[in-house]
Amino acid sequence: MKTQEELAAEQAAYWNGPGGQAWLAAFERIQRSIAGFSDDVLTAAAAKPGETVLDVGCGTGETSEALARAVQGAGRVLGVDISEVLVSAARARNLANASFEVGDAASYAFESAAFDLLFSRFGVMFFAEPVQAFRNLRRALRPTGRLVFLCWRTPQENPWGLVPVRAAQPFLPPMERPGPEDPGQYSFGDRTRVERILTEAGFAGVAFRPLDRMVPLGPDVPTVLDNIGKFGPLARQFVDAEPAQIEKAKRAIAEALRPHVTTEGVRLAGACWLVTAQPG
Ligand SMILES: C[S@@+](CC[C@H](N)C(=O)[O-])C[C@H]1O[C@@H](n2cnc3c(N)ncnc32)[C@H](O)[C@@H]1O
Repeated sequence: MKTQEELAAEQAAYWNGPGGQAWLAAFERIQRSIAGFSDDVLTAAAAKPGETVLDVGCGTGETSEALARAVQGAGRVLGVDISEVLVSAARARNLANASFEVGDAASYAFESAAFDLLFSRFGVMFFAEPVQAFRNLRRALRPTGRLVFLCWRTPQENPWGLVPVRAAQPFLPPMERPGPEDPGQYSFGDRTRVERILTEAGFAGVAFRPLDRMVPLGPDVPTVLDNIGKFGPLARQFVDAEPAQIEKAKRAIAEALRPHVTTEGVRLAGACWLVTAQPG
């Protein structure tokens, strides 16, 4: 079993290395796939003019920009992300009322009680020590503030992710399976775990709204196959696989995706939690 230090170092290396680069390269496509969920979480956050917002794991700053528009000139947004390459992309947006810092949100020295809204779109599932991380975030929140974030539910509830991965497994080197408390894309799928983490970290009134939407993966199967090798768990597995294994895996993925081809492209179901809470 890996230690928490090892897990944290692994996440930092991934998002500052291949993960960050691949997320940046694939960002326009990813943005299209998650657009519906993104609108849901931004609407729920309801950032108001004059508010101060922290965008946790802000990535390229797309949601920070939407939040900056909502809080207007009198408000301010701080985006924090562990990935230098993604923060550089966020800074290139040149927003008048948003700034971006490279840092680990789990330990970053935020000004205390400074934010009205702690926000995140898929940026809070990667902490090696989530209770400690959310305690740090909790300290940054005003007593009247709120926490609003979006995370994936379980892999079984997310066929858009599971179907290709499952189809490819017989042909690829074994996939590293995260433990139930390890960071990762689906690590907040279990709402009991998330509720425990947030409560221990000092939040109250933790509420979960299930969001279910179709996830568009691409216009056709060949395009999806191409993208699948660029970002995500399969891209990581392909690195260690032989070309012949990748070929067989791609054929199996194509077969598995065929029933999901629609007139609007390749679409499979996706499932998220919209999580809200207040300081306890
Ligand atoms: C799935 S991406 C989401 C990015 C962005 N929120 C978006 O929706 O476009 C996850 C982000 O979390 C960042 N991240 C991971 N661990 C982090 C940490 N400990 N502190 C700050 N950011 C972190 C990654 O660098 C990455 O940008």
